[in-house]
Amino acid sequence: MGFLEGKIAVVTGAGSGMGKATAQVLAREGAIIVACDISGAQDQTVAELGGKAIAAQCDIADEAQVSAAIDLAVAKFGRIDAMLNVAGIAAGGPIESLEGADLKRMLDVNLMGMFFGAKHAVRVMKETGGGAIVNWSSLAGLIPSPNSGAYAISKAAVVMMTQSFAVEAGKYKIRSNAICPGVILTEGMGLPVLKNNPARAIGNPLGRAGLPEEAGELAAFLVSNRGSFINGALIPLDGGWSCMLA
Ligand SMILES: NC(=O)c1ccc[n+]([C@@H]2O[C@H](COP(=O)([O-])OP(=O)(O)OC[C@H]3O[C@@H](n4cnc5c(N)ncnc54)[C@H](O)[C@@H]3O)[C@@H](O)[C@H]2O)c1
Repeated sequence: MGFLEGKIAVVTGAGSGMGKATAQVLAREGAIIVACDISGAQDQTVAELGGKAIAAQCDIADEAQVSAAIDLAVAKFGRIDAMLNVAGIAAGGPIESLEGADLKRMLDVNLMGMFFGAKHAVRVMKETGGGAIVNWSSLAGLIPSPNSGAYAISKAAVVMMTQSFAVEAGKYKIRSNAICPGVILTEGMGLPVLKNNPARAIGNPLGRAGLPEEAGELAAFLVSNRGSFINGALIPLDGGWSCMLA
C-alpha cells in the first residue's frame, strides 16, 4: 500500500517535466490522478499511468477551464484531496526592456493560473473535510537574479498567494505550501537553463541539477498525512544553492 492510497490529486502541467513526474510519483503511492495540461501531452501521461488517471485539457490562465477540471474530478471521484499547481511558463531578459504585455502573460499563467487552481480547490475541499495544495514557485521567487524579471515577479507573487491561502484556508483543514526549485532537469525549463548557463545548474553544494522526480517525491510528502502539520512553508528544492546565495 502506498502512502497516498485512495487520495484524489489534480495535477496541472502533467504533460511534461515536474508535473508529469509528480503525477507518476503520486500514482505510485496509490493516488488517482486528474492530469491537466494545455498541450495535449496529458493524454500520454494518463496512458502511461494505466487505470490510475484521467486527463483534462485545461489552460490554467482561464478560470472557467480550471474550475471545470476540478469539477470533473469531483464528478468522477466525489472529492479532491490534493491540488498540485505545477504548470508554468518562463521567459528572461533585462527588466527595463520588459513589455507590459509580456509581464501580463506571465502573471496570467504563473500567478492567476495557480490562484484559480487554489481557489477552486478550496471551494470543493472545504465541503469534504480538507486537503492540501502545493504551488510551484521558484528560487527566483525568493531571491532576485539578473534577467529573470517577469518570471521572478510572478513567482514571488506565488509565494505570498501560497501563504495567504495557508493562513485563510487552514480553518478548513486545507494546507497550502510552495516548492521553490533551483534548476531541475526538465525539457521545458531546466535543460534550456542548463544549456545557456551550466554554472547555474552545478553551482550548488551537491554539484548537480535536480531531477523532476525529486520534486514529485517532495510534493507527495507534502500532500500526504506525513506532512499534516506543514502549512505555509516555502521549501527550496535546490541542492542547497539558496544557502550559498543568502
Ligand atoms: N525546471 C526548472 O528548473 C524550474 C525551476 C524553478 C521553477 N520551475 C517551475 O516548475 C514548474 C514546472 O516546470 P517544468 O520545468 O516541469 O516545466 P515544463 O515546461 O517541462 O512543463 C510545464 C508544463 O506546463 C504546461 N503548461 C504551460 N502553460 C500552461 C497553461 N497555460 N495551462 C496548462 N498547462 C500549461 C506545459 O504544456 C507543460 O506540459 C513551473 O511552474 C516552473 O516555473 C521550474
